[in-house]
Amino acid sequence: MSISAPPSRTATRLFELITASWVAAAVSAFAELGVADAMTSDPLPVDVIATRVGADAEALHRLLRACADLDLVEELPGRHFALAELGHALRDDAADSMRGYARWVGSQAERSTMAHLARAVRTGRSVFEEVHGRTAWSYMNEHPETAAVFDRGMTDISAQLTRGVADGYDFGAHRTLVDVGGGLGGLLSIVLSANPGLRGVLFDRPEVVAHAGPVLEKVRERCRVVGGDFLSSVPEGGDAYLLSNVIHNWDDHDAARILSHCREAMTADGRVLLAEVVMPDSPGPARTAKFMDLSMLAHCDGKQRTRTQFADLLHRAGLRLTRVLPCHGTSIVEAVRA
Ligand SMILES: C[S@@+](CC[C@H](N)C(=O)[O-])C[C@H]1O[C@@H](n2cnc3c(N)ncnc32)[C@H](O)[C@@H]1O
Repeated sequence: MSISAPPSRTATRLFELITASWVAAAVSAFAELGVADAMTSDPLPVDVIATRVGADAEALHRLLRACADLDLVEELPGRHFALAELGHALRDDAADSMRGYARWVGSQAERSTMAHLARAVRTGRSVFEEVHGRTAWSYMNEHPETAAVFDRGMTDISAQLTRGVADGYDFGAHRTLVDVGGGLGGLLSIVLSANPGLRGVLFDRPEVVAHAGPVLEKVRERCRVVGGDFLSSVPEGGDAYLLSNVIHNWDDHDAARILSHCREAMTADGRVLLAEVVMPDSPGPARTAKFMDLSMLAHCDGKQRTRTQFADLLHRAGLRLTRVLPCHGTSIVEAVRA
């Protein structure tokens, strides 16, 4: 190879892939600092933005010019920056906000876990306990500030990405929907708002549902909030049990246990509805499923399952898979008593 040759396309592409975490870190820092909340679509001098967010003006200039290349902001002459449409969705108060999720993925708890992915692949086991000294959910109980960031991040994901299930599945055919592991109630609130005849039960860890009030405000009179442990039991009497991005957190043994509790608790005509990003059964592109799957491996011994794996798991819990309904990226995996 001649020493005057330009960099190979391979090296350039690999550089992009290898340093993708720097890009993600910049987006999360932008969200963490609340930069979007301090900006408008009208240009502002960087010094003014720095004062508003309590940052070093020189360093913020370096962050913002990098974020300009990601289309979060527009860079103008004279060290002025204006908020762009993409960056607007990192405002705390934006209707389509993803700020909470950017803060969670940028958090020390998440980043330090994914830093040990190679070890998780070597052993086939989650590294969370080894890195943080306790399992993910017990860590959340011990670190309420991180837990608040995680819960808000999950609310963003259900409000922006999982919401497709609300119009993709006929929830109106049911009487009482129990949202098992429903977090702060973001998805339940969307589903209840779209189905005025439906009643809801939000079920999650007591530490989580204690903060569920504001998200459920609009549907409060049709919704009961229950704290508990789904590894022991779930609230009885629903005719639909929704588990949105819950089963992917668990290995087959515990996932079957949670599903068995839903089976025992539901009415005879009840349905279990898993909202999950389903892994294709055959090779092909499925970036969200595949990378979410690696996150599950590192964090919690969970996984993204294929239709076949869901059918086997549901069978193990005394349930029968009836259909898989694609809803804008997330699918509803529907099951009844076997
Ligand atoms: C990945 S989050 C999904 C949250 C929500 N369903 C959504 O789609 O945004 C998993 C949820 O399971 C809850 N969870 C974990 N262990 C639990 C347990 N033992 N009993 C009840 N809920 C639990 C967590 O608190 C968390 O809210």
